[in-house]
Amino acid sequence: MDMDQLKRQAAARALEEVRDGMQLGLGTGSTAKHFVELLGARVAAGLNVIGVPTSEATRADAERCGVPLTTLDEIDHLDITVDGADEIDPDLNLIKGGGGALLREKIVAAASDRMIVIADDTKWVPTLGRFPLPIEVIPFGLGATRRAIEKAFAQCGVSGQMAVRRAKDGHVFVTDGGHWILDAQLGRIADPAGLAKALSVIPGVVEHGLFIGLASSAVLAGGEGIRVIER
Ligand code: A5P
Repeated sequence: MDMDQLKRQAAARALEEVRDGMQLGLGTGSTAKHFVELLGARVAAGLNVIGVPTSEATRADAERCGVPLTTLDEIDHLDITVDGADEIDPDLNLIKGGGGALLREKIVAAASDRMIVIADDTKWVPTLGRFPLPIEVIPFGLGATRRAIEKAFAQCGVSGQMAVRRAKDGHVFVTDGGHWILDAQLGRIADPAGLAKALSVIPGVVEHGLFIGLASSAVLAGGEGIRVIER
């Protein structure tokens, strides 16, 4: 079975948790896109839900699929957020932000009663860090911010190259919030919670891709079927 079918299976399993009247966070990326498409089909068949998109790309997908949208200013909480991930560890800590939407994704996940992570099972890792950690930064004072990040890495026992993310056309990748992303090749993050804390207090860091304690469950689709892991 190809990867895209696995992603769609994980999305379909998460959709089983959705009930009429729910307010949903809509994730970003190729797996979350399957969820939005499947949700759109249910809405067309009469399901009454409303969604908050985590990126302009997901907003466009949701509009195309007929999923009604709102904002976190208009509603006071979300029931479930369904989103993909770049890596998932056995404590359901995540690396996210491969698609560059980590800031809105984290705001939306934190505003949700539950976050369901959907993925093919290649995203399941014993330890986070093989996937480069995205760190969203303010372009102003980037040199100072980089040095502070390197200091935080050293304090947390990790090291590795950091590069400003570029779009396919070679220009600097700019997030929906107008920021840049540094991708850090760390290899192995032994203490993701400690690193998350150390990065969060650096002034030029807007957000980072470590999602600690946010996911309530993960739906992993693989060749042998679907596995649901609860925290
Ligand atoms: C978007 O910024 C990311 O956090 C995605 O959720 C993550 O990169 C997973 O994307 P795929 O589902 O495309 O692998």
